Amino acid sequence: MPKAHALFPQGLHFNWFSQLDSTNGEALSGCWPEATVIASDCQKAGRGRLGRTWLSPPGQNLYFSLVLYPRLSRAHWGGLSLAAGVGAARCLDQLGVAVNLKWPNDLLWQGRKLAGILLEARDDKLVVGMGLNVNQARFPAQLPATSLSLATGKSWRRDYLLALLAGEIFRFCSLWGQGQQQEIITYWKEYDIILGQEISVLRGRETLRGKAVNLSPGGGLILESQGVRHLLNSGEVSIGKCME
Ligand code: BTN
Repeated sequence: MPKAHALFPQGLHFNWFSQLDSTNGEALSGCWPEATVIASDCQKAGRGRLGRTWLSPPGQNLYFSLVLYPRLSRAHWGGLSLAAGVGAARCLDQLGVAVNLKWPNDLLWQGRKLAGILLEARDDKLVVGMGLNVNQARFPAQLPATSLSLATGKSWRRDYLLALLAGEIFRFCSLWGQGQQQEIITYWKEYDIILGQEISVLRGRETLRGKAVNLSPGGGLILESQGVRHLLNSGEVSIGKCME
């Protein structure tokens, strides 16, 4: 695996830890400059969306966070989650893994979760955290999850994957910041799995049901429910009218 403070191509600074509570936590609390990648072999308290835990056993998967200081107004930071998803999806696609994207930031393979992205912000810093199941062979029965090795029947080197993925995520987040939102949304639609479908969106305690009709220019989801269009900036999507 990469050594701490090795500088890879693409202008990213990679820092590899054998164990952290959470790479997002370290990236948020430490004094790290733009384009730093914090990766860890395992996490003791990996964080998922909506306050969930991200199971992070050692020696198998990728857990990493990219530090950004976006020169965008805060209201536009949410779209960087789509940019990160597009960067990751295109990278895996180029490696021969046909993934889908589920708004706002899940990567799926044949309907099972392959990776998740969690954005967290503090002051002017934004951390893009990604957990990718790489070589894990088994998952708890209740989790509809998969890994690259289950999807492809081979084991994967995590160091190359980390360099490639972090590079593409950084590139697409930079493009988003440079005004290429529309192009990125067009790319997203090549991988999207929910547009045109009846979905349920969990937002706090509320569930909205309707049809996913489009993405807004800022990366929000436009949901049509009983003839009314709602613009959603966050939420947990399930395909179908009932929550899974
Ligand atoms: C999700 O719930 O789908 C998002 C999961 C994000 C997990 C990653 S693992 C690396 C980074 N550090 C964390 O604590 N969480 C993210």
